Amino acid sequence: MARKIIIDTDPGQDDAVAILLALASPEEIDVAGIVAVAGNVGLAQNAKNALKVVELSGRRDVAVYAGCARPMMRELITAEHVHGHTGLDGPDLPEPKLRLETIHGVDFIIDTIRREPEKTVTLCALGPLTNLAMALIKAPDITERIEEIVLMGGAYFEVGNITPAAEFNIYVDPEAARTVFACGAPITMMPLDVTHQMLGTPERVAAFSAVGNRSGAAVAAMLGFSERFDLKKYGWPGAPLHDPCVIAYLLKPEIFKGRVCNVEIETASPLTRGMTVADYWHVTDRPRNASFIRSGDADAFYALLTERIARLP
Ligand code: BDR
Ligand code: CA
Repeated sequence: MARKIIIDTDPGQDDAVAILLALASPEEIDVAGIVAVAGNVGLAQNAKNALKVVELSGRRDVAVYAGCARPMMRELITAEHVHGHTGLDGPDLPEPKLRLETIHGVDFIIDTIRREPEKTVTLCALGPLTNLAMALIKAPDITERIEEIVLMGGAYFEVGNITPAAEFNIYVDPEAARTVFACGAPITMMPLDVTHQMLGTPERVAAFSAVGNRSGAAVAAMLGFSERFDLKKYGWPGAPLHDPCVIAYLLKPEIFKGRVCNVEIETASPLTRGMTVADYWHVTDRPRNASFIRSGDADAFYALLTERIARLP
């Protein structure tokens, strides 16, 4: 039976590829809904981008909800410098005809977890953790019903991408991240340590165009845009691809390696705000609250992505 997930996201080119990967894999993954959060750009634009991606995929049966418009305690920080003015610059996607659902995204998360059998809903977080934290605060009873939280966020050995200490998703809403990491539900995290191994070399990006469908062309155009910032910044042979690691992990966990350890979120220090302090070597007896994924097989990851994108229109 397909695993039921909710995708919480701020699309974002890499979010869009993650959503397409999930929607292209209905035998393994049942997307109950997509919830937008403020992050790469503002909430309204992220929600619109999610609708565009759903239309691109041809899966008009998948509902999109709007969640929280800003972090729990802080001003929103956005990343137009990476993702462009629309958050999804690159492909020329039509204005969406689909409309947002009227219920709030946080309530959709709560209602779905309460309605479905216990431990059958996985939350996939691809942006700041505001919506997940708000759901846990509003409805603490859902915590023990969650099957797993799989999230892209954090960094430890690889250190930060928005500050020297912090990764963007955790940095934007560190209080939300602290709430999620302390909740007690099983957590698997895809930090920069693994996503920085998934480099979109020219050959790998070209493979998406070579698929010959509109989705492959759109993915190549998205990555062609978002890579500019990272190629200049890192000087690597390709740009990292972050959020699809979350969905790839659900489809083929054997691609990835890591270990369960304690992960705490820094919320007090202005210097290291949003740092994910991972006790990877188990030097404390703090609770082992997260599976920290540290490495992955990039060839297998891109092969999976290309094969699945090829199944879409
Ligand atoms: C994360 O930040 C966002 O800009 C990307 O979409 C990804 O979720 C990487 O740090
Ligand atoms: Ca994202």
